[in-house]
Amino acid sequence: MTPEDPVKDPVILKDLNLKDLNLKDLLSKAPVLPVITLHHLEQAVPLAEALVRGGLTNLEITLRTPVALKVIQRIAEEVPEAVVGAGTVTHPRDLEAVSKAGGRFAVSPGATPALLAEAAQGDLPLIPGIMTPSEAMTAHDAGFEVLKLFPAEPAGGRALLKAIGGPLPALSFCPTGGIGPATFRDYLKLDNVICVGGSWVAPEEAVLAGDWSRITDLATATHE
Ligand code: 3PG
Repeated sequence: MTPEDPVKDPVILKDLNLKDLNLKDLLSKAPVLPVITLHHLEQAVPLAEALVRGGLTNLEITLRTPVALKVIQRIAEEVPEAVVGAGTVTHPRDLEAVSKAGGRFAVSPGATPALLAEAAQGDLPLIPGIMTPSEAMTAHDAGFEVLKLFPAEPAGGRALLKAIGGPLPALSFCPTGGIGPATFRDYLKLDNVICVGGSWVAPEEAVLAGDWSRITDLATATHE
């Protein structure tokens, strides 16, 4: 074993930050990360299947409703083509709950020191939320290279991401918040954007109406 061998040397493996490498790989598989808030457990599987049919296989279920963890569990168990994670992760204790439910990643609107510390020592990949260079640098110092720009549009949108890319080229982003069908492609053109998060691919009225084919069409349109 030589110190230069990243596969065999666990110290170097740790330095490479495997969690970030995996996240980059995962997020680049689909242009949009649907942000989903469900109130009814029975909608979980048909919604996930509708999005997967439209080619969006990474799903973010926000922890904003009492059924959210059960939704994650149900999708993890019954929709094997989907990679389901949790959004609105705001407290360190959420990470264990998400892992137990079968979630594969976590997304946060922010980057508190407690959340970063807990995620850095655990196995569940976290995408911390930032909206300033200092927050991005804090997250980077804690070992995170894939970040969520939130709320993307109010924070400065594409112009902000472009400006941050100069001094902080190691960071990649999943901008989320205020992005829709008219603007997401412009974000994806930026070198430091891996994917775009948004709720527009699963509109609440379509979910409530069980209009799964409309949701598949919206998902399909993101990579046509
Ligand atoms: C959220 O946390 O609700 C996400 O940022 C989704 O934002 P959007 O509804 O503007 O896509």
